[in-house]
Amino acid sequence: VSDPHGIWAGVIGHPVKHSLSPLIHGAWLKAAGIEGLYAPIEASPDGFEAMVRAKIAEGYAGLNVTVPFKTQALELAETATFRALDAGAANLLTFRGGRIHADNTDGVGLLAAFAEQAPQWQAHAAPVTILGAGGAARGAAVALEDAGCPQIRIVNRTAEKAEVLAQALGGAVVAMTGREAFEGVGAVINATSAGLLGGELEAPLDATPEGCVVMDMTYVPVLTAFLAHAEGLGRPVVDGLSMLIGQAKPSFQAFFGQPPPDTDVRSLAIAELARR
Ligand code: ATR
Repeated sequence: VSDPHGIWAGVIGHPVKHSLSPLIHGAWLKAAGIEGLYAPIEASPDGFEAMVRAKIAEGYAGLNVTVPFKTQALELAETATFRALDAGAANLLTFRGGRIHADNTDGVGLLAAFAEQAPQWQAHAAPVTILGAGGAARGAAVALEDAGCPQIRIVNRTAEKAEVLAQALGGAVVAMTGREAFEGVGAVINATSAGLLGGELEAPLDATPEGCVVMDMTYVPVLTAFLAHAEGLGRPVVDGLSMLIGQAKPSFQAFFGQPPPDTDVRSLAIAELARR
């Protein structure tokens, strides 16, 4: 911290060094002329709570939370929004009034990404298939149900985990298997960590109807193999970088008390990813 003035915030994770959030928030702070700091904060796997309390003591206004602490972040909070409780995870903690408050802006980010890159897509028009049954899939399912999606189909490599998630969420969320899960859908969302783990994601995207939007929550590279496959089939695509920026906007507002300026952080992020 070279300039210890203004409002402080950051992103906490393990590892955190690959996070693009400091670049995004830093660019917004600079463009808006706000005196403040947005720092990457590395916590050891069992050191999350201690690190959060240290940052509160240092006067931080709040923290974004990334892998693997999003569930712990919700558990640590004294108050939480319904969307964080429904998602079972928090990507945003704020510390006003000496209390830890949890929110989850990943759902906002997901819907903002669709609105930006596939504005023709409508949540209520058709079922949506989500690949994966972990925390990312749960958050996406909750956001889609809130947005009025008539059916959310959970498809997972380990089918039992899809069943468990569908039963936990209920409502419009169902577990499905096979090609049938891809027929008649308005969108398919990759919420697995397959790409991140260097694995190959198997999905019969050719079973989707023409015009079905294909979205990938991962963004390294921005055009993932999954999205490239979808484009090869002529499907419109939505990338995870748009979602990342979409979740960052309400976080910035929560920390710094104003919406982020209209800066092209997408180009900055793409340039940074190309440098790596
Ligand atoms: P997160 O909280 O980010 O969602 P997670 O809870 O570890 O992470 O979930 C990872 C998801 O990616 C799981 O649904 C996992 O499938 P399994 O339940 O079968 O493990 C999925 N996943 C990871 N690697 C995959 C691969 N190579 N192919 C398909 N799915 C994969």
